[in-house]
Amino acid sequence: MQRFQGKTAIVTGGAGGIGEAICRRLASEGALVRILDTAKAAGDALAAEIGGTAHDVDLTDPQAIHAFVDQIAGDGIDILCNNAGLMRRGPLMELTPADWRLSFAVNIDALFHMCQAVVPVMQRQGGGAIVNTASQWGLHPAPDHLAYNTTKAAVVAFTKNLARDYAPDKIRVNGIAPGEVRTPMLESNLARSGRSIEDLNRLVPYGRIGEAAEIAALVAFLASDEAGYLCGSVVEITGAQAVA
Ligand SMILES: NC(=O)c1ccc[n+]([C@@H]2O[C@H](COP(=O)([O-])OP(=O)(O)OC[C@H]3O[C@@H](n4cnc5c(N)ncnc54)[C@H](O)[C@@H]3O)[C@@H](O)[C@H]2O)c1
Repeated sequence: MQRFQGKTAIVTGGAGGIGEAICRRLASEGALVRILDTAKAAGDALAAEIGGTAHDVDLTDPQAIHAFVDQIAGDGIDILCNNAGLMRRGPLMELTPADWRLSFAVNIDALFHMCQAVVPVMQRQGGGAIVNTASQWGLHPAPDHLAYNTTKAAVVAFTKNLARDYAPDKIRVNGIAPGEVRTPMLESNLARSGRSIEDLNRLVPYGRIGEAAEIAALVAFLASDEAGYLCGSVVEITGAQAVA
């Protein structure tokens, strides 16, 4: 399939984990991929491999987001994958105000700034597709992740609101709510909790946690014209697991 021939895509957090898989999938189907990530060396290496461009932009910096979009908007922006996210763990009394603020800055504020920069470009083009990465924990909270789960619930609400407002412009906004997926984020959590991948696999009705390539396949579908009437949906991809 070459669903993205001639299309240009931005993938935030594209240098590693699920974002890297999204970049590989979109590029393999013909997209010119703009990898936005503070992990510069990994972003540069991936861009060289898949033929895209890498941009060392910190998503906590709204001015940097707007400067980046201004720099690349001339070539068009057909797809925006707001994938980047981070996890600050803990219940209320274990989180610092800095944990709370950083969680919101990366996981939800950056979507506001990125969409404010990109939506006018898509409006001028006559449409586009935005895919936001929420989490199953934004719908069904796992314990002791108050900041993360709250920001991911906000991503769900943001997605549905944006879709409602820009559907008339033929900008389709959708989201995904993955369960646990094997990535560096998950592995850092394992190191802390002392649990193994096998422990997590046993908790999933389907028998195993997700692979980044499986999440990327869903994102590619939502970004493609095949999902032409999907607008304002947040698709759960969990192996039938409600809560970890
Ligand atoms: N892994 C899971 O089990 C899982 C489950 C549900 C949802 N998610 C969500 O999927 C998305 C990707 O997760 P992942 O597991 O691949 O994470 P990851 O930590 O493996 O990768 C995140 C990427 O985002 C980049 N990034 C982080 N902060 C940034 C910033 N301020 N500016 C620019 N880039 C920044 C990192 O450098 C990294 O390359 C996140 O939104 C996460 O919340 C992950």
